[in-house]
Amino acid sequence: MNAPAKTEDFAIKIPDGVYAETVLSVEHYTDHLFRFRMTRPAGFRFRSGEFAMIGLMVGDKPIYRAYSIASPAWDEELEFFSIKVPDGPLTSHLQAIKPGDTVLMRKKPTGTLVLDALTPGRRLYMFSTGTGIAPFASLIRDPETYEKFEEVILTHTCRDVAELKYGFDLVEEIRNHEFLNEIVGDKLKHYATVTREDYPFKGRITTLIENGKLFADLGVPTLDPDVDRGMICGSSAMLKDTKELLEKAGLNEGANNKPAEFVIERAFVG
Ligand code: A2P
Repeated sequence: MNAPAKTEDFAIKIPDGVYAETVLSVEHYTDHLFRFRMTRPAGFRFRSGEFAMIGLMVGDKPIYRAYSIASPAWDEELEFFSIKVPDGPLTSHLQAIKPGDTVLMRKKPTGTLVLDALTPGRRLYMFSTGTGIAPFASLIRDPETYEKFEEVILTHTCRDVAELKYGFDLVEEIRNHEFLNEIVGDKLKHYATVTREDYPFKGRITTLIENGKLFADLGVPTLDPDVDRGMICGSSAMLKDTKELLEKAGLNEGANNKPAEFVIERAFVG
């Protein structure tokens, strides 16, 4: 066992072989969504877009879930974007964390939503629904994304407008960031839609790809395997349906050991 970490006024036991990090800030967006930032262990390396196993001691047992790291690889802190499930084994506890609390993290990050898993292209689409935006929050803040692609299109679809706020905050943060803003310039396009509320941009991303509205709104040609690359993160149904549309357009699924035209993150779905 490592030394006990102090949380509030009681000491918790930290399991061997995991990092125990300190929560720095917590921001609640809706009844269902929040983000938190925590300290980054000195030796912890990851590639932007990867996920890690994040956990808490619940009673005397650690509970872990896969979480995309939402901060970029260069950041001194780690950021995560989470749902709150009232009776979720981890999130029912995680949603109550406060600055100063301890969060556990297993030592090895992994994942397929990394730039290395894509063959070179001109335009990178990041298709996300709900908290599926998290790995892209990392990638859109990584200068390497803009070295590799001339145009980066982040799509984010949620049920309600309030759930889009994290994405808007991210883009604003980039615009206000001296060195990132210069690197990103006008290469990043953020396309946000909702499905269950009135909003100027409405509809599932799959519908908007199929009827061409996505491309018309953005002023870009339809999907072309020669120049377009994709990354997909969302529910299992969304992954399946979006993947089918990309394959129909002639893009092939890649992996870390076999880069191709698009990649999917399967870690978060059953
Ligand atoms: P919808 O409101 O039409 O179900 P969820 O919270 O269920 O994961 O949904 C997040 C967003 O993803 C919602 O806007 C939802 O649209 C959309 N969505 C759900 N299933 C799919 C799918 N199979 N393909 C594309 N978008 C989907």
